[in-house]
Amino acid sequence: MTTPRPPEPIHPDDIAACLAIAAALPEWFSNADGLRQMEASLRTDRGIVIRAADGTIAGCATLAQPFATTWEIAWMAVAPASHRQGIGRQMVETIVALAREAGAQMLVVKTLSASHPSPEYAATRAFYVQMGFLPVAEVPEHWGPENPCLIMARSLSATASTAIPVPLPHLP
Ligand SMILES: CC(C)(COP(=O)(O)OP(=O)(O)OC[C@H]1O[C@@H](n2cnc3c(N)ncnc32)[C@H](O)[C@@H]1OP(=O)(O)O)[C@@H](O)C(=O)NCCC(=O)NCCS
Repeated sequence: MTTPRPPEPIHPDDIAACLAIAAALPEWFSNADGLRQMEASLRTDRGIVIRAADGTIAGCATLAQPFATTWEIAWMAVAPASHRQGIGRQMVETIVALAREAGAQMLVVKTLSASHPSPEYAATRAFYVQMGFLPVAEVPEHWGPENPCLIMARSLSATASTAIPVPLPHLP
């Protein structure tokens, strides 16, 4: 793919193309309920798309804002032919910049945990780790035990800490 265009807000006319990307990724998006939720998110939540130079959509992501301080990547997908070309990274960094501009301090994402054997979701977790996310908690009851949910988070703070230094206790 030649250089993609800069990220744009999702337009209602883009929804079908975003759903087509998900449909082309059955290893990740096979669940009919999940696809309906993605469609609802594309219709109602804020989000971005990245187009290839020819105007076709190469990737999309939607956002949830559960708290003013905390934004969440609700859905994200890059067309298979455009994987490993920096589109996912560009979408995450765009979301990070938008969240920081709005004063958010944390960006979270829910994905399938390592206690599920899916190699595809192992790749997804590797992507999020590369994007600066750390695992926070496994929540098996969120999607049910057959799809154990992992919450990952990335701090958006510019500085590591503003806390007053305290002597650290030695933990055995
Ligand atoms: C996860 C996904 C969005 C990544 O998008 P992408 O555009 O392919 O990712 P990028 O090219 O920006 O990758 C950035 C870095 O992440 C890491 N990464 C990306 N894909 C990876 C993979 N399959 N395996 C291991 N690391 C990976 C690499 O370090 C990569 O940098 P590099 O290519 O220079 O080595 C894309 O693979 C996708 O749509 N997957 C299916 C749907 C999905 O997982 N959505 C998220 C659900 S929670």
